Amino acid sequence: MVTDRRDRTPTADPPATDDDHADHLERSRTVWDRWSDWYGMSEKDFEPIREAAIDRLDLQRGDRVLEIGCGPGVNFERVRRDIGAEGELVAVDYSPGMLENARERIEAHGWENVRVLRADATTVEFDEPFDAALATLSLSVMPDVRRAAETVSQSLVPGARLAVVDVRPFPSGPARVLNPFVRRFLRWYANWNPDDDVAESLDDVFDTCELVDTHFLGTAYTAVCGKRDAA
Ligand SMILES: C[S@@+](CC[C@H](N)C(=O)[O-])C[C@H]1O[C@@H](n2cnc3c(N)ncnc32)[C@H](O)[C@@H]1O
Repeated sequence: MVTDRRDRTPTADPPATDDDHADHLERSRTVWDRWSDWYGMSEKDFEPIREAAIDRLDLQRGDRVLEIGCGPGVNFERVRRDIGAEGELVAVDYSPGMLENARERIEAHGWENVRVLRADATTVEFDEPFDAALATLSLSVMPDVRRAAETVSQSLVPGARLAVVDVRPFPSGPARVLNPFVRRFLRWYANWNPDDDVAESLDDVFDTCELVDTHFLGTAYTAVCGKRDAA
């Protein structure tokens, strides 16, 4: 169990349709292309939290790693250091602006085994499975969080782990009174998905899922999910 399900605002909205999905995706592209010019100013803010999450993957040299919603590639250097030149990092994002920055980072470092792909991480498919996966500050802005979790799970080898860093409204305490504003802010700033719950989706899809860390009064958290080893 990653989080308290009471954090969610009950909604009477009908289930999301393909049109809702497409609309959300298009808004994401607009929002994240806009922020791609400015993201560098704040990208270090979550660095210790991201690094601690990557520690939890216990990456080995030669591993193949999947990152979804990679943005401008803030995790590339650390992952590349862990997997070495013999591993491979495949990073997916939907925003062309973010991917341009990610490619510039790859070129500047001359990383030949870091590859970026423009795709909707909720539906993307891969030929070969990955040894580990990473999603930092990205699952909660996806149009269908459960499908994104399923896509990641299906792309992993048995026994592999997914490390997630994400944000949410205040989970407890008097600050919860601020949650309507927090939700509105996240919607505006990040095209945050108010209808899906990251923790619930991860719990449903993965064999194990643990909330391993919280920050900022619980509004940011790290979760590690795993696929069972093949019998
Ligand atoms: C807050 S940024 C996070 C970037 C980076 N992972 C980090 O930790 O800073 C969210 C990223 O998710 C990407 N994104 C949103 N929806 C997506 C989708 N359906 N498929 C792939 N990427 C998506 C956005 O384009 C954006 O770059």
